[in-house]
Amino acid sequence: MQGIDLFSGAGGMSTGAESCGVNVRYAVESDRDAAATFALNHKNTTLIKRDIRSVKGSHFTSIDRSQPVLLFGGPPCQGFSTSNQRNRGADNENNWLFRQYLRLVREVRPDWVVFENVKGLLETEGGFFLEAVLRGFKDVGYSATRFVLNSADYGVPQKRYRLFIVGSLHGIEVDAPKPTSVTERVTVAQAFDDLPELDNGDAPDEAKYSIPARTQYAKRLRGALGKCHNNLVTNNAPHIIKRYSYIPQGGNWENIPSSPW
Ligand SMILES: C[S@@+](CC[C@H](N)C(=O)[O-])C[C@H]1O[C@@H](n2cnc3c(N)ncnc32)[C@H](O)[C@@H]1O
Repeated sequence: MQGIDLFSGAGGMSTGAESCGVNVRYAVESDRDAAATFALNHKNTTLIKRDIRSVKGSHFTSIDRSQPVLLFGGPPCQGFSTSNQRNRGADNENNWLFRQYLRLVREVRPDWVVFENVKGLLETEGGFFLEAVLRGFKDVGYSATRFVLNSADYGVPQKRYRLFIVGSLHGIEVDAPKPTSVTERVTVAQAFDDLPELDNGDAPDEAKYSIPARTQYAKRLRGALGKCHNNLVTNNAPHIIKRYSYIPQGGNWENIPSSPW
């Protein structure tokens, strides 16, 4: 299966697609830094570093139409995220980029489409955007199945809910993938309690791991690396450090008392 990754960012979805055997032929990304990271990690993919509004289906010239094509991607999601209380909704210009996605589906006519976004898209503007995306799929001839998945159910040490809409040009309905790690979740400690011990404001590019990797997950992340790179602890003012001290295991900012800040 050949893949096209729209709004590819640094390449998270492409990495997932490749691990499922997809040959990601093209990616589209306008941000310079995200594109540079993508290019470093996906050397066999043609990266189109442009605003998607200027990309046409005819840019994907070397797609072999005798093989199935999967178009996938997650348009910008900050405008649908419930953590964004500032410009969540129809006024956020980025929320309309899904139309570019649908336009390229219409121009490319892939066999499969996977659309990913935050769960907040379900409720933004009373479900208007969800309906618009689903209607858009239908209008260009695709059946669409949707589900919300929690990354913690699939071996990721984080609860992160994401909406997926899977479209098929051939009318095929798909089920949500079966969870792989409901009973044995990977905890954050299992994932990175081997990281270097750092103090407030430390930023050594390279530092020694604090202990040997204890778990399969940590071993897999560490791979052959002898040292840990890109360490950065933000330089927090003393009153911010004090605030952190109020947050218990499993807690968040709501555990911090409102005074005396
Ligand atoms: C939610 S992120 C995608 C994350 C990506 N799917 C991954 O797995 O890493 C959305 C991306 O869309 C890019 N983007 C935003 N507006 C764009 C535009 N007009 N044209 C192309 N890319 C755009 C952003 O730079 C950002 O990297």
